[in-house]
Amino acid sequence: MSEDVKILVIDDEQSIIGQFERMLTDEGYKVYQAKSGEEAEKIIISEPLNIVITDVNLPDIENKEWIKKIRQANKYAFIVVTADYADIAAATQSLKLGANDYIGKPFDPRDTILTLRALVEKQKLKADNIQLLETIKSLALALEARDPYTLGHSEQVTAYSVAIAERMKLSREEIERIREAGLLHDIGKIGITDAILLKPDRLTAEEYDKIKEHPEIGKRILAPVRSLADKIPFIYYHHERYDGKGYPEGLKGEKIPLGARIIAVADTFQAMTSDRPYRKALSRQIAIDELNHNKGTQFDPKIVDEFLAIVDAIKLIG
Ligand SMILES: [Fe+2]
Repeated sequence: MSEDVKILVIDDEQSIIGQFERMLTDEGYKVYQAKSGEEAEKIIISEPLNIVITDVNLPDIENKEWIKKIRQANKYAFIVVTADYADIAAATQSLKLGANDYIGKPFDPRDTILTLRALVEKQKLKADNIQLLETIKSLALALEARDPYTLGHSEQVTAYSVAIAERMKLSREEIERIREAGLLHDIGKIGITDAILLKPDRLTAEEYDKIKEHPEIGKRILAPVRSLADKIPFIYYHHERYDGKGYPEGLKGEKIPLGARIIAVADTFQAMTSDRPYRKALSRQIAIDELNHNKGTQFDPKIVDEFLAIVDAIKLIG
């Protein structure tokens, strides 16, 4: 059971490696060892590690770069730094740079194994979650690929939304929430038939009602993913209007979650400025006029103002 847990221990002192190795092998973990950054790098690249335990003071590496390098090579592994008293500042810096935990040297094996056991469990959950999220994101991309007109739509909406959120100086966490929600905001369209989604003519009222189900479908699809719980409201409410005449619930004003109000502006602007089967893209200026015209009715006026202040500076890829 624990055999599939892979842990790399990096330290230039063989005695430290030995201590970790005994402790971790007893626990049933598979242990890799490296005495330098160079040796470690090869293992980090080739093995799907769960935990990387690294000395902060390795002779051949610069601590700051090292943490980043590990993170880039393996986005799933938890990084645990070990440091003696003299290196406490470096350990703190590592935590700021994305290391997950810190073990002081000399360490008490009983305490340390408890810490590591808990970290292994947390890491497995996190890795599962990242994989699940990636699966969902590729589903969202596959969905867009069904329709050449919406290819790249979610990414552009996300770029606009994040730019607005940054301009509004929202917290890092809130910005990340908006980023994920932006990418997934139309995932519910997976439940709408091609006949409606790809229809080259204007939709009938009935067909439009079907399309309007996509926020609800999206909410249902994503509900089992625990790490998405705080993003689902942004997805579910992205078609609400500031005046309360939107869907699915007709929420009004500030009752609509901020992330959803931001995505609504970004979404509409992106849709207006790209080709649709039944019409050509509107010019940027017309789209800007439309946003201004619908300030306070369809859109939160403050968000429109923030967006229009930066719209020209936003760079889009593709
Ligand atoms: Fe939508």
